[in-house]
Amino acid sequence: KSKNIAIAIDGPAAAGKSTVSKLVAKKLQFVYVDTGAMYRALTLTALEAGADLESEEALLTLLQGIDIVLMQHEDGQKVLVNHNDVTEAIRTNEVTNNVSVVAKHPLVRKEMVRRQQNLAADNGIVMDGRDIGTRVLPDADVKIFMIASVEERAERRYKENIAKGFEADLAQLKEEIRLRDKLDSEREASPLVKAEDAVEIDTTSLSIEGVVEKILDAVYDVIGR
Ligand code: CDP
Ligand code: CDP
Repeated sequence: KSKNIAIAIDGPAAAGKSTVSKLVAKKLQFVYVDTGAMYRALTLTALEAGADLESEEALLTLLQGIDIVLMQHEDGQKVLVNHNDVTEAIRTNEVTNNVSVVAKHPLVRKEMVRRQQNLAADNGIVMDGRDIGTRVLPDADVKIFMIASVEERAERRYKENIAKGFEADLAQLKEEIRLRDKLDSEREASPLVKAEDAVEIDTTSLSIEGVVEKILDAVYDVIGR
């Protein structure tokens, strides 16, 4: 097992954060935390409750009532909300297209950040999201900012949908990703932005293994091989 350090991975939708983070965590035997899953879990809860997603107060009350558990699993994680398995349910288009509205509220973010920092305490950790290097783990030992062209990212989501047997419209996926990028980058509360000390990796024409290798190189620079 490697020395316990914190690796922060940020970037826009479908840059490859979760795919690569899981592999890096597995390799180092670190805990992997997908913070997007936490915002998705709250979004699902709010949609099911018929809550007004513009109401920070309503969302905060819901958040205070739910326990979100990210269970480490062989190839990733299981997501539980008050013991219910929502791993699949948080990936629907409805959740995806509403999550950035939920995630814009400062007090919602504050509570999520508190929970995420608790998860990171005392662990070797790989955490991915939008504000990990800037806000959640500002002292992370390794910070990565992953990007890729919007065309490539839409293509990746398209392929994922087709592989799962879902219908998909490439042009629509591109628009949805564009909109989410915009909302995430332009919000007031800890927007998606590259930390000053983050290493930027453009994954547009890289393989998954290629990206993993680059991150491990950055990690070994810090902890030694
Ligand atoms: O996997 P994908 O890139 O589609 O998204 P995700 O990582 O599951 O995150 C979903 C949404 O949650 C993002 O578009 C952000 O609006 C929000 N999010 C955030 O605001 N801060 C984080 N640390 C992680 C996610
Ligand atoms: O977590 P994030 O939304 O940043 O991306 P993801 O959910 O890991 O999705 C990225 C998709 O692109 C997955 O289907 C990967 O197989 C694929 N991909 C990648 O992650 N990295 C590459 N260098 C090439 C493809």
